[in-house]
Amino acid sequence: MTTILVTGGCGFIASHFIRLILSQTNWRVINLDAITYAGNMENLEDVLSNPNHVFYRGDITDSKYVSTIFETEKPSSVVNFAAESHVDRSIIDSSPFLKTNILGTHVLLEVARQKQTSRFLQVSTDEVYGDAEGKAPRREDDLLKPSSPYASSKASADLLCLSYHRTYGMPIIIVRSANNYGPFQFPEKLIPLMIRKALTNSSLPVYGDGLQQRDWLYVKDNVSAILSALQSGHIGSIYNIGTGIDRTNLDVINTICDLLAEEQGEDTEKFRSLIEFTADRPGHDRRYALDTERIKTELGWSAQVSFDVGLKDTIRWYLNNQSWIESVTSGKYTTYYEDVYAGLKQDS
Ligand code: TYD
Repeated sequence: MTTILVTGGCGFIASHFIRLILSQTNWRVINLDAITYAGNMENLEDVLSNPNHVFYRGDITDSKYVSTIFETEKPSSVVNFAAESHVDRSIIDSSPFLKTNILGTHVLLEVARQKQTSRFLQVSTDEVYGDAEGKAPRREDDLLKPSSPYASSKASADLLCLSYHRTYGMPIIIVRSANNYGPFQFPEKLIPLMIRKALTNSSLPVYGDGLQQRDWLYVKDNVSAILSALQSGHIGSIYNIGTGIDRTNLDVINTICDLLAEEQGEDTEKFRSLIEFTADRPGHDRRYALDTERIKTELGWSAQVSFDVGLKDTIRWYLNNQSWIESVTSGKYTTYYEDVYAGLKQDS
């Protein structure tokens, strides 16, 4: 039976990836997660009793712990989702970003190299290319020009992975995804933050003029692309994952206001009037845009969920799961793990 190590498995994107693997394959998933503020056992509540899901709480920078997991579980593949991922936090303090995103990736690469892992998939981001304003959609071989400490830590990890492929022949694949959205996203990123704020009648902070553009990718589309890259991607290749459609932040926020109003039978002005323009983020990239030709031609993948459908689903999920929002933002999530899942924890 295939055994796969998924790092950061309790985070937003990886929890969807684990759910997909458990529903579509008979693989064993070894989930290594440090349970930081954004990693949350409640994201995986529905699969915790699945015998093919094994949870280890720990940090990817802890090489002894990572080695022990490899020795015990013998994963044939690694998918590295574990990362500090919020740009605004990286501007305030970049240290955890360098530690987890660069040193953590290095630890995983070293252990995977020693254990001769047959595939190592690094989950990266479109932010490594930097600002695409005035440029053609970014291609996989374009120059990396990260703007934020977060983006530069991810670009560094990509470069490390590529060097391990070239120097040691490591079976590396890199995926670079556009902005994700969907259920279980921590309410610090634009879409869940705006939903949460609108629901509590708080102002909706728009950085700068709000005309920055992003490509919004529904998380379930993203994880299906990642699975297909893992199964059929070419070793040493990089794959961009996106929809190819850019939207301004203002457009996204206005659409959230409209959909919330529709769902709640309210006037959209009730929400739109909460929009407040604030100071811009330092180093803010105006636009991200990806060329996704490679993943379409080589792997036959393209996004299936339109923004309107994905956003409606997401808003309904947040409306129906307000206790989840409360839980992950109250600090309760840290003790939740201790209380409920202590029995599931595997120790080295
Ligand atoms: P974010 O979700 O932080 O993703 P990223 O910076 O990685 O693209 O932000 C998406 C866009 O929304 C980005 O242009 C910054 C903007 N933004 C706001 O205008 N207000 C906010 O409160 C946040 C969190 C983001």
